Amino acid sequence: MNNPSFVLKGDLCFSRDPQTLNAVPNGYLVCLDGKCAGTFAQLPAQYQQLPMLDCTGKLIVPGLVDLHVHAPQYSYRALGMDLELLEWLETHTFPEESKYRDLSYARKMYPAFVRDLVRGPNTRACIFATVHVEATLHLMDLLEASGLCTRVGKVNMDRNSPDSLREPGAQASLDATRGWLGRLAGRYQRTKPILTPRFTPSCSDELMAGLGQIQKEFGLPVQSHLSENPGEIAWVQELCPQSRFYGDAYHLFGLFGGEGCPTIMAHCVYSGEEEIALMQRQRVFIAHCPASNTNLASGIAPVRRYLTEGIPMGLGSDVAGGTHTSIFRAMADAIQVSKLRWRLQDSTLAPLTAAEAFYLGTLGGGAFFGKVGSFLPRYEFDALVIDDSRYTPQGSRSIPERLERTIYLSDDRDLAHKYAAGKQLF
Ligand code: GUN
Ligand code: FE
Repeated sequence: MNNPSFVLKGDLCFSRDPQTLNAVPNGYLVCLDGKCAGTFAQLPAQYQQLPMLDCTGKLIVPGLVDLHVHAPQYSYRALGMDLELLEWLETHTFPEESKYRDLSYARKMYPAFVRDLVRGPNTRACIFATVHVEATLHLMDLLEASGLCTRVGKVNMDRNSPDSLREPGAQASLDATRGWLGRLAGRYQRTKPILTPRFTPSCSDELMAGLGQIQKEFGLPVQSHLSENPGEIAWVQELCPQSRFYGDAYHLFGLFGGEGCPTIMAHCVYSGEEEIALMQRQRVFIAHCPASNTNLASGIAPVRRYLTEGIPMGLGSDVAGGTHTSIFRAMADAIQVSKLRWRLQDSTLAPLTAAEAFYLGTLGGGAFFGKVGSFLPRYEFDALVIDDSRYTPQGSRSIPERLERTIYLSDDRDLAHKYAAGKQLF
């Protein structure tokens, strides 16, 4: 990777922590060797020789982070939204994902997902592929060529799914996973693997134990689903009676955070006290997926509580539970559902502010990737240049107001430039 150095000039806005939004009007954002060197009101002398892109009047924010999205589900967004999780998986998800057994289907379908991701505001994503190794490698090839920075998982499933999708057994699933990992060496810079047991109902104890072994051997991160839907949670208790709660069914196999095992769990709508305490202790990242939790009538996660307790957390589109990949959209959804939860369910948990939602979609989720999601010094240079003049006349609003309007009103048309890890995508 060549590591460019340059300067962007414009109205800078980024998070420092959940409550603190930094704004630098008409400021300078310096990229040195692909990393952020900081933000400045006046350009320091040592940077004055660098090439500068003058984006005066435009808003410049960190690239957005999607902690949870399913690439093969992009094709059937906004279908079957009258169903709850388990029925929706049976009716729509599993039949569609089965088709990726055929590499030519993946070649036909994955390009649209990657193309649209490039055009949108996300620079990073943690992605579920399918159980199929060839199709997953093809997706990874497309993502690598795109310049986006991603973690991609070949999914593991050896039970409770149709024969057309289910892997023939735990050993076959583990062998396929090792085979997949063996083919990654030297192939990718920006596209990395992540272990992806779909969720406890899809994975036998033997498969989970084998994945725990692979996790230890390779030091890989893990992603899965947790406490999304009441029927799902009851089923996990039947399938894994030795677990004290759903999260424990991952923890028993060494797949639930802790030293050397960075983990993302999507949803956490119904996590109880013990599960929350374990996530806190193990530094498990929660991917809050408000659109999906609304569409599949799953519920509303207590995000205020997770924020207060300092549990690592970001936002997920969860396409196709969610309909849109944009994490700006997820920020607006997160704010809106937090208000309904506060009004209808628990008035002790205050709604999210725009600054907090922005934090979750940038620095909160970015922390899973390292120093990502802010313009503080030494952060990876992920940036969006947004021309917000279509909905906010220039000079009429403060930077925090322009950011709030961008969260609700911007779309891909308004993105002027996009950078991921120092590379300009457009
Ligand atoms: N739980 C297991 N698989 C899935 C999936 O594909 N989407 C969602 N939202 N939840 C799941
Ligand atoms: Fe999901």
